[in-house]
Amino acid sequence: MRTNYVFIMLTLTLLSCSANQITKKIMPGEIWKDDRGLHINAHGGGILFNNGIYYWYGEHKDENSNEANVGINCYSSRDLVNWKFERVALPVVTNNDSSDITKGCIMERPKVVYNQKTKKYVLWFHLELKGKGYKAARVGLAVSDSPTGIFKYIRSYRPNAGKLPLNITDEQKNSQITVANFPKSWTPEWISAVENGLFVRRDLAGGQMSRDMTIYVDDDGKAYHIYSSEDNQTIQIAELADDYMSHTGRYVRILAGKHNEAPTILKKDGKYYLITSDCTGWTPNAARMAVADSLFGEWKELGNPCVGADSNLTFKSQGTYILKIEGKKDTYVFMADRWTPKTPIDGRYIWLPITFENGIPVLRWYNEWSAL
Ligand code: GAL
Repeated sequence: MRTNYVFIMLTLTLLSCSANQITKKIMPGEIWKDDRGLHINAHGGGILFNNGIYYWYGEHKDENSNEANVGINCYSSRDLVNWKFERVALPVVTNNDSSDITKGCIMERPKVVYNQKTKKYVLWFHLELKGKGYKAARVGLAVSDSPTGIFKYIRSYRPNAGKLPLNITDEQKNSQITVANFPKSWTPEWISAVENGLFVRRDLAGGQMSRDMTIYVDDDGKAYHIYSSEDNQTIQIAELADDYMSHTGRYVRILAGKHNEAPTILKKDGKYYLITSDCTGWTPNAARMAVADSLFGEWKELGNPCVGADSNLTFKSQGTYILKIEGKKDTYVFMADRWTPKTPIDGRYIWLPITFENGIPVLRWYNEWSAL
C-alpha cells in the first residue's frame, strides 16, 4: 500500500516536472515550469544572487496583453533550473487610478540590486503611464527589506533633469538647433543633429528619456543605470547615489545616434562589454556589442557577438540581463526573451553561456547546457 503511494507520488512529481528539471539542464526556448507547474512568468527580467539563492524578477504578462495587470514577479532557485514562485514582488495598484503604477500601466525590464550599506533591496524598472503608450519613458523605483518583497513603490521620473552629460561638447551644448528645425525625421541632417545632442537639449529641463534598462553594480560597489534614451537613439549610462535610490547627475551618452535597446553588461579582466539590440519592437534583430576600459567610455563597437544559425536574430530573442555566476571563473549567462506579442504570457527564455574567443564574448546556441 505504502509502496504504491510512494510510486504514485513520484510519478506525479515527475509528470509535473519539465525535462530540464529532471536533467538539471537549461533548455533555451522550452516551457520552463515553476514549482506550481506553470510556465515561468518573468519576462524582461534580471537576477539577484543573495545568500546562495538566485532571485529572478520579471514582468508578469497576460494571455493577450503586454500591460502590467499584475506587477513584477519574483521566483527563487538554488540551481537556476528549479524555480519556486515567491510572489508578486511589486503589485500594480488596483484602487487608485492616479498612481503611476496603476493596473494597465507598463512595467518592463525590472532589475533588483542589494545595497550593502543600507541593507535594502532596490528595484528599478522601466515605467510607462497608463494609456500613454510609450511616451512617458520613465524609470521607476521601489524598495524592500527582503529580496522577495513586497517592494514599496517610491517614485518614477526621467533621470538627470537639468544636468548635461559629462561628455557633451561645448558646441553640442550651445547649439541652437532644435527639433523645430526638422519637419522630417531620418534625414542625414536630422541623424547628425540627434548624434549631436538634439534630444538631450530638448529633454534637459524635464529629464532624459529612459526606456529599456539594466542596473550594473561595479566591483567598487557603485551602481549605474544603463538605459535607452533620446527616443531610443542613444544609450546613456548614469551613476546612482550610494544608496542606489537616486541619480547623482553624473552621466554620459554612448553610441550616440546608433539606436540601441535591451542593454546588458558584463565585466571581464577589467574590460566592460555591453551587448544590446537594434530597435525593432518585439521582432528580433541582430545583437551588437561594444567594449570599454571604463563605464564612462570611450566605447568601441565590436559587432554581433552571436555565431551560427539565427545569429542575425540573436537566436530569435532580445537580451535582458547578463548574470555572472559567483564562485565560477568566467561563467556568465546571457539572458534573453523570445517575445510572443500575440500571447505575451507564452514568451520563452533564451539563456545561453557566454564564451570568450580571442578574449572577446561570443554567443552560440545550445539546446541544453548547465551553468553551475
Ligand atoms: C522592445 C523592448 C521591449 C518593449 C517593446 C515594446 O523593443 O525591448 O522591452 O518595450 O519594445 O514594443
